[in-house]
Amino acid sequence: MAYNVLLLSSAYVVMSFFLCSVHAKVNLNASSLTSGDDNLRGRSVKSNQLVFDVRKHGAYGDGLHDDSKALAKAWSAACSSSQPSIVLVPKGMKYLTKHITLSGPCKSSITLMIEGTLVAPPRKSDWSKKTIQHWIMFNGVRGLTVAGHGAINGNGKIWWQNSCKTNSKLTCTKAPTALTFSSCSNLKVENLKLVNSQQIHMSVEDCTDVRILGLTITAPGTSPNTDGIHITRSKKVHVTGCTIKTGDDCMSIEDGTENLHVKKIVCGPGHGISIGSLGDHNSKARVNNVTVDNVRLYGTTNGARIKTWQGGRGYAKNIVFQNMIMENVWNPIIIDQNYCDSATPCKKQVEISTSAVQVSNVSFKNIRGTSASKEAIKLDCSRNVPCQDINLKDVKLTVKGDGGDAKSTCRNAKWKKSGTVIPQPCASSN
Ligand SMILES: *[C@@H]1O[C@H](CO)[C@@H](O)[C@H](O)[C@H]1NC(C)=O
Ligand SMILES: *[C@@H]1O[C@H](CO)[C@@H](O)[C@H](O)[C@H]1NC(C)=O
Ligand SMILES: *[C@@H]1O[C@H](CO)[C@@H](O)[C@H](O)[C@H]1NC(C)=O
Repeated sequence: MAYNVLLLSSAYVVMSFFLCSVHAKVNLNASSLTSGDDNLRGRSVKSNQLVFDVRKHGAYGDGLHDDSKALAKAWSAACSSSQPSIVLVPKGMKYLTKHITLSGPCKSSITLMIEGTLVAPPRKSDWSKKTIQHWIMFNGVRGLTVAGHGAINGNGKIWWQNSCKTNSKLTCTKAPTALTFSSCSNLKVENLKLVNSQQIHMSVEDCTDVRILGLTITAPGTSPNTDGIHITRSKKVHVTGCTIKTGDDCMSIEDGTENLHVKKIVCGPGHGISIGSLGDHNSKARVNNVTVDNVRLYGTTNGARIKTWQGGRGYAKNIVFQNMIMENVWNPIIIDQNYCDSATPCKKQVEISTSAVQVSNVSFKNIRGTSASKEAIKLDCSRNVPCQDINLKDVKLTVKGDGGDAKSTCRNAKWKKSGTVIPQPCASSN
């Protein structure tokens, strides 16, 4: 009996020693916030968060050495910490980062605090066929925050030069999305600068409960496929206070988006805010409850756009575009159910296709400004599945300069107007 007790208690001592050493080991490269870090002063971090500095995990921060492994190490240490933790990328330095996947689930909430610059390798050869679609990817993380006043620089020039959209003689190849959030929940992305992505700057896929705040996204207006924020198969997403200047869609809102609220966005140059494209390759699309509110667009090709391919199925419904100011926008208000963006021209399916993505309950309210083309309002819907319940309220769009009067056109669209709508909605509203 006494022997048993002794054995038990010594096992306990060994056990707790073991636990202690595990604890110490985990914390060796982490510092508690109370020690204070210049990078984090004034940030809204909680005092119980542990900080895992990539420099303490071997990062050089000289923009030349590959710091991906250091980032991966800091991430995995932070992710396995049972305390909320911060992976810190300190300011004033450049961290060369190759393709990387930062995966969850983590033991507690985790923050990647980017105060310095993450920069992508300049050569395409740093990507393999398998990894070419992603640069930095977050996968399956619950309670993730990516924040900081640093930058994520995709070094995209080499990709743009070799794009088939820049040079039609080249074969079209894939290129990385700079930041991908896949299957994350309770996600917050805040204050970062995303610069010169290889292709899409940021993609949110299969996520729920997402807040995106205060991002600045910048790439040349001529850079191909450099969408700002891309959202698909995600629910409960809020995007607020972002400035997006790129060569493609400011925001693209695609299949599976539900309960999305977009507010206070400035776009341009670029292709404007698009819902779609939906229903490509005869697929079924579902987009429901999207509000786009308080947006300014400068010199974009589109303003408020819904685009669907012929032959698709499903719906895009309960959509509001409101309080928008447009300046020199080529297609300020456009629903296009004959969208085609394919290397080979789409067959005219008008006669043969009986299906289309149903577009219904869409409001365009309080939209003002100038159109670069005469056609300020264009509702081009499917013959077999006409657009239903399109509402135009308080719209005033004029042609930029002295280009004459703006006009509206429509096909197969059932619309109502209220307030003053200029240009007058099209006469034939069959
Ligand atoms: C701390 O970081 C160094 C450099 O990356 C690494 O070799 C070491 O294993 C880390 N220690 C712990 C306990 O994670
Ligand atoms: C629509 O989405 C918003 C969030 O953007 C949400 O607050 C609202 O409850 C949703 N409406 C419905 C009917 O689900
Ligand atoms: C149309 O969509 C708006 C915005 O989502 C929603 O509030 C409204 O209830 C919808 N109307 C109908 C008839 O479904």
